[in-house]
Amino acid sequence: MQLEEIKQTLIRARLETEKVIIGQRDVIDMALITIITGHHALIEGVPGVAKTLLVRTLGKVLGCDTQRIQFTPDLMPADITGTNVFNLKDNEFTLIQGPVFTTFLLADEINRAPAKTQSALLQAMQERKVTIDRATHSLSAHFTVFATQNPIEYEGTYPLPEAQKDRFMMKIPMSCPRYEEELTLAERMLGPEAPEAVLAGDTVQAVIGGEELTAIQTALQAVTVRREIIEYIVNIVRETRATGTILVGAGPRATQSLLLACRAHALMAERDFVTPDDIKRMALPVLGHRLILHPEFEIEGLSVEEVISDLLREVAVPR
Ligand SMILES: Nc1ncnc2c1ncn2[C@@H]1O[C@H](COP(=O)(O)OP(=O)(O)OP(=O)(O)O)[C@@H](O)[C@H]1O
Ligand SMILES: [Mg+2]
Repeated sequence: MQLEEIKQTLIRARLETEKVIIGQRDVIDMALITIITGHHALIEGVPGVAKTLLVRTLGKVLGCDTQRIQFTPDLMPADITGTNVFNLKDNEFTLIQGPVFTTFLLADEINRAPAKTQSALLQAMQERKVTIDRATHSLSAHFTVFATQNPIEYEGTYPLPEAQKDRFMMKIPMSCPRYEEELTLAERMLGPEAPEAVLAGDTVQAVIGGEELTAIQTALQAVTVRREIIEYIVNIVRETRATGTILVGAGPRATQSLLLACRAHALMAERDFVTPDDIKRMALPVLGHRLILHPEFEIEGLSVEEVISDLLREVAVPR
């Protein structure tokens, strides 16, 4: 696929998604960025802001199947990967595939499951493979996880260790709809245009088949990133390790994620090259969840948002 054709496809994907999801343009774009770069994302938002609906809609629009797992304290690794079951009739074991055998997976409240189960998912994310009774099975080449987390204060949660959060390219914040949007939503809910009904009907068209995601991912490499832009990204990531208010900064995986995310962001903005503005826009979603602030500043009420915007003011912007 040519870059021009891909830009058009992405714009159509956004428009089709907007037939179901009201507002949330930035969220839709960031989810598309996650998918076309072949990564995974955390989605953060209060209940009922359409996190589940978004992932299901993207599945339909991009021609990919979707599954959802609700994480609970008693969820076992086999509940997500699958189990071999002895089949008396054929006298052999057959694999009952778990929900990871899909393309888009919504992992709800991932921090409610114990570490063993979380790591089974994280292994699947990283390798796009799962091991069940010593046999390794490949997952979809475009296996993408969107995970939500329960607030950490919640009783009986197992917070994701930093090393595991690092596996997510970005954290996508999903806020409540604006007044006008909420009004539209409320009106639609009364009739045949209710978001769920629109998704179930045939108004929403698939813009590509799942296989075409490979072509899009390859074509991303044609988006130019100048040397000064690469330096800018590296400088920003390194600055997270030098800033006094940050206890633990971002590792090298963040650099790669920021580069890729900015490339995809440029494409979503119908450009063939990355600009410093792409980087400023993606810095918070890509870096925010990887940073740990110094407790003393956190107590004073300093937020990751503030730290990153200060940092962006510090680092020299290429011309
Ligand atoms: N921006 C929106 N666009 C369209 N529908 C919306 C929007 N926000 C909320 N809704 C409506 O709210 C319903 C709930 O959405 P959904 O179940 O996807 O929320 P959720 O964020 O996954 O919630 P939870 O955290 O409880 O799982 C949707 O089915 C839809 O009708
Ligand atoms: Mg949900």
